[in-house]
Amino acid sequence: MGNSHPPRKARLIGTGSDLPERVLKNEDLEKIIDTSDEWIVTRTGMKERRIAGINEFPSDMGYEAAKKALEAAHITSDHLDLILVATMTPDYISPSTGAIIQAKLGCQQIPALDIQASCTGYLYGLSMAKAYIESGMYQNILVIASEKMSAFLDYKDRTTCVLFGDGASAAIISHQGEGLSLDTVCLGADGELAELVIIPGGGSKNPASHKSVEEGLHYFKMTGKEVFKHAVRRMGAAAKECLEKAGLDESQMSWLVPHQANRRIMEAMAKNLNLSIEKVYQTVHKYGNTSSSSVAIALDELVQEHVLHEGEHLLLVAFGGGLTWGAALLTKIKG
Ligand code: ACO
Repeated sequence: MGNSHPPRKARLIGTGSDLPERVLKNEDLEKIIDTSDEWIVTRTGMKERRIAGINEFPSDMGYEAAKKALEAAHITSDHLDLILVATMTPDYISPSTGAIIQAKLGCQQIPALDIQASCTGYLYGLSMAKAYIESGMYQNILVIASEKMSAFLDYKDRTTCVLFGDGASAAIISHQGEGLSLDTVCLGADGELAELVIIPGGGSKNPASHKSVEEGLHYFKMTGKEVFKHAVRRMGAAAKECLEKAGLDESQMSWLVPHQANRRIMEAMAKNLNLSIEKVYQTVHKYGNTSSSSVAIALDELVQEHVLHEGEHLLLVAFGGGLTWGAALLTKIKG
């Protein structure tokens, strides 16, 4: 006869975001490339996005977001056991942005690393945090998503530069306290389609050279139309898988919080899941696609704006380069 404790349940006990001050409107883009506010709004739902300053990097935005998340969770950085940073636009290829943020927070010695899963990185991070917490290995984990997409965009390529913005968001995942329990996370990837979303230069395959820069290999590239189809299909399937694992159906969701890549993708998701569009939380009009931080920023804003009652369910879904995708089911719980 041993002591029987209820199993540990990972939960988000605090969130916070940091958005750069500079706003880049569709009208500003009209002045630099052959595009129009009308095209961007009808094809994507975007009106404006935030652009980081020349001396503002993912580690800076991630640090600011982390401070807010710690404050919301009522803990200090010396209580952290691990830092996970989702980013596809790190300050450097090496060292990790996680290590830089660790030093800024003054919590030396604890492990810190980056996760590269493109726009799905935040959900990959939540899934890892859940496993560490529920195994009993760690007590408090900081998960950050932070992106400076503008550093990798070609502002002569209208098919990509209008779509993305910069920003960061963070969450504290713990084993106790009031917040959102991390009930189920479903992840996937298909590396056969890796070239649909790619930054080909700057890695060891195409190291920076005059030639690589001349050819624009350091810029973000995306086969948009193809990606659109996979996004709708994969996010829909991940959402359904996650609901099924949790033993819930769509009608029991208070909110769907999807990756903010395109309003049309979100509308297709809502239709696919038989959800009213009012239940789909959107920030795409004001921030565009901020890659890994897009779901994280949307979740943080949702939590700030709406009082959630015990037992309410949220479904996060994301999709991105890799290709990668994922869904996570969260439930409001008391401490
Ligand atoms: N302004 C004006 N015209 C444009 C622009 C622009 N900014 N961009 C493209 N066009 C033109 C094209 O050249 C094309 O013209 P053509 O017909 O003469 O060739 C026309 O508009 C239509 O282009 P499409 O690419 O077919 O437009 P579509 O309706 O597919 O919208 C978009 C493009 C917005 C990129 C869409 O395909 C999309 O959202 N894809 C999915 C993106 C996504 O989900 N990304 C997530 C992963 S990203 C990540 O992980 C970081």
